[in-house]
Amino acid sequence: VPGFHYTDGALHAEGVALSAIAASVGTPTYVYTTEGLAAAWRAYADAFAGQDVTICYALKANSNLAIIRTLAQLGAGGDVVSVGEMRRALAASIPANKIVFSGVGKTRDELVAALQAGIHQINVESLPELEMLSSVAVDLGVTAAIAIRINPDVDAETHGKIATGRKEDKFGIDFAHAGEAYARAMALPGINPVGIAVHIGSQLLKTTPFRKAFGKLAGLVRELKAQGVPLSRIDLGGGLGVPYKPEDQAPDYPAYAKAIAETVGDLGCHVTLEPGRSLVAAAGLLLTRTIFVKEGLHRRFLIVDAAMNDLVRPAMYEAWHTVIPVAQPAADAIWADADIVGPICETGDTFARLRPMPPVAPGDLLAFLTAGAYGAAMSSTYNSRPLVAEVLVSGTAFQVVRRRPSFEDSLALETVPDWLEP
Ligand code: LLP
Repeated sequence: VPGFHYTDGALHAEGVALSAIAASVGTPTYVYTTEGLAAAWRAYADAFAGQDVTICYALKANSNLAIIRTLAQLGAGGDVVSVGEMRRALAASIPANKIVFSGVGKTRDELVAALQAGIHQINVESLPELEMLSSVAVDLGVTAAIAIRINPDVDAETHGKIATGRKEDKFGIDFAHAGEAYARAMALPGINPVGIAVHIGSQLLKTTPFRKAFGKLAGLVRELKAQGVPLSRIDLGGGLGVPYKPEDQAPDYPAYAKAIAETVGDLGCHVTLEPGRSLVAAAGLLLTRTIFVKEGLHRRFLIVDAAMNDLVRPAMYEAWHTVIPVAQPAADAIWADADIVGPICETGDTFARLRPMPPVAPGDLLAFLTAGAYGAAMSSTYNSRPLVAEVLVSGTAFQVVRRRPSFEDSLALETVPDWLEP
């Protein structure tokens, strides 16, 4: 992984020893490398060098300001799904004209904010949203540039909870209703239907489902154009996966770029992509310290100070994250199966079962790899655990980019009603 390596027997993030970060910031802490972000960006930039493509980073994968800012400096636009993400994108200096707004349930207030900010495009996912947007645009005296998100009814062949393009999924407008939706969009005041959008799911390691969906979409674009819809933009969503397990195939970026060129390249439309995971996952790890090692009758448990509230993917999607010790295991170390678990009072708070691990002692630091995407972004304070801290590394420098809230910080959000006061 670019950015993380063992040097002198100790795991480093670029030029910084992870043990130094743990000593100064504590654990659990997410650690991101600038190098990893740049490498992920480069994979897209290289693959699409010959094509006119705008990459709008899907902020949901990791909406830390420092991460957004790093990607913005590399040239990324932003794909946002809430007014909060939109404000983060703007705060990280992503220009409004490189921001697209996706999501099935935008509120009126969010549509107002998006139009006032003058963002590039709103991806509309239903007729009621279209009607609401039209009325908001008319109220504000502006025209909304929109894309309509189409559900292509393609199985992305990924985990059921993150597949979004099957006909029973809640996303987009049915393929069969596309004509009707564009006719309505053309008729409504304040709406300029310039684009079409699709997103079939996340963590796709193969390009075949993309090719299928994009091919279907291209046929639809031709039909719509023939009917006079002024389509000039096509948004192909995100979804390119990352290898989590050692045996996972790394996705083939050139093949992905080729699939896009071959399916939609001749439509005369500007292409936008919305990758999230693939830009940030490998650039981050979750650093944790072992609290106890419990030798059970049937299992060896490594009880660590990170929990499902810090990294929910294993509990939520049965996701695999490779776990490695920060101190490089000796060549002759004896590996044995262990369950790696957090302190939360739920069996689901298990990161790995029967995972071969070298000897681990209480106090030892471990790292969950490929945790830069949907890690900190999905963290919570369950069990009154403070929100996890985040650190960004660049060369030999590191900085806390989200501090761990204090107990007082979290209590400050709450009040006990007067009638309960003594
Ligand atoms: N665009 C849209 C409209 C999306 O819904 C998503 C992700 C993306 C782009 C970015 O997809 P990516 O490139 O990251 O695959 N929490 C789950 C993943 C949820 C993905 C939701 N939508 C996980 O941890 O696996």
